[in-house]
Amino acid sequence: MTTKQIIAVCGKGGVGKTAYTAMLTRVLADRKNNRLLVVDADPALGLNYALERTTEKTIGSVRDEIIQTASTGSREDLKLMADRIDYLVAQALEETDRYAFLAMGRMDGVGCFCSVNDLLKDALNEVSGVFDTILIDGEAGVEQINRQVVSTIDTLILVTDTSLRGMKTVRHIKGLLDNGLIPSCKKVGVVFNRTQSDVTSLMQFAKEVGVDVLGFVPYDKTVETYDLEGKSLFNLPQDNPALIAVATTFEKVKNSD
Ligand SMILES: Nc1ncnc2c1ncn2[C@@H]1O[C@H](COP(=O)(O)OP(=O)(O)O)[C@@H](O)[C@H]1O
Ligand SMILES: [Mg+2]
Repeated sequence: MTTKQIIAVCGKGGVGKTAYTAMLTRVLADRKNNRLLVVDADPALGLNYALERTTEKTIGSVRDEIIQTASTGSREDLKLMADRIDYLVAQALEETDRYAFLAMGRMDGVGCFCSVNDLLKDALNEVSGVFDTILIDGEAGVEQINRQVVSTIDTLILVTDTSLRGMKTVRHIKGLLDNGLIPSCKKVGVVFNRTQSDVTSLMQFAKEVGVDVLGFVPYDKTVETYDLEGKSLFNLPQDNPALIAVATTFEKVKNSD
């Protein structure tokens, strides 16, 4: 079984990646025959709040457990742990009736532990292989996602608000892609978030950078209020303008069934 589409959402901190990913989760969960895995790749977490998930275990905490055993346990303990790694990763998976959720958590710490990271990545591939779509909130950045979460990304959604800093990050990531410094993706596009009115200059910016415009998600008071009150953006009303705009952006990158 292979995953049909792996989507990563990237951009500068604070531009609205997590809000966008939470709304896209809703759009994707509403599609039929689409087993969905949503991954929070932000070490500080965040998407779990936007989706009201409890998140007790993360891949980072599984990793800590393995490293702990490696440093204190016997060889047998370690072997047992290596055999159980798929099980441990599966335990970190939170299943709801609409989608599954996985938080990466912190993957840093002293030392390299490359072999542990490789084992975890293999286990992640195994566990995630049954899903049709994987959606990643990529606070960690494109390189880290490729290194720690999935080897390939087919669809890269660059989110920015209308600030120069947000747009500079889009330009930077596009530059990395063009120069082969990060693995190429089949589809790349920009989403402008929290837009207020005139989008002419945003269109101009995208043209200059050479990136497709997937759409404009308007500033929306309800989104802001939901986030402020800790309510899940998954449950926005169907006619919410921001949610509708997010659905439109997905139309531009979805694979033909
Ligand atoms: N379209 C929107 N309308 C109103 N507020 C938004 C919108 N998108 C994001 N926000 C708000 O902006 C803030 C930052 O968004 P967040 O998704 O956490 O950014 P990021 O994940 O990129 O750091 C949050 O308070 C969120 O509620
Ligand atoms: Mg975030």
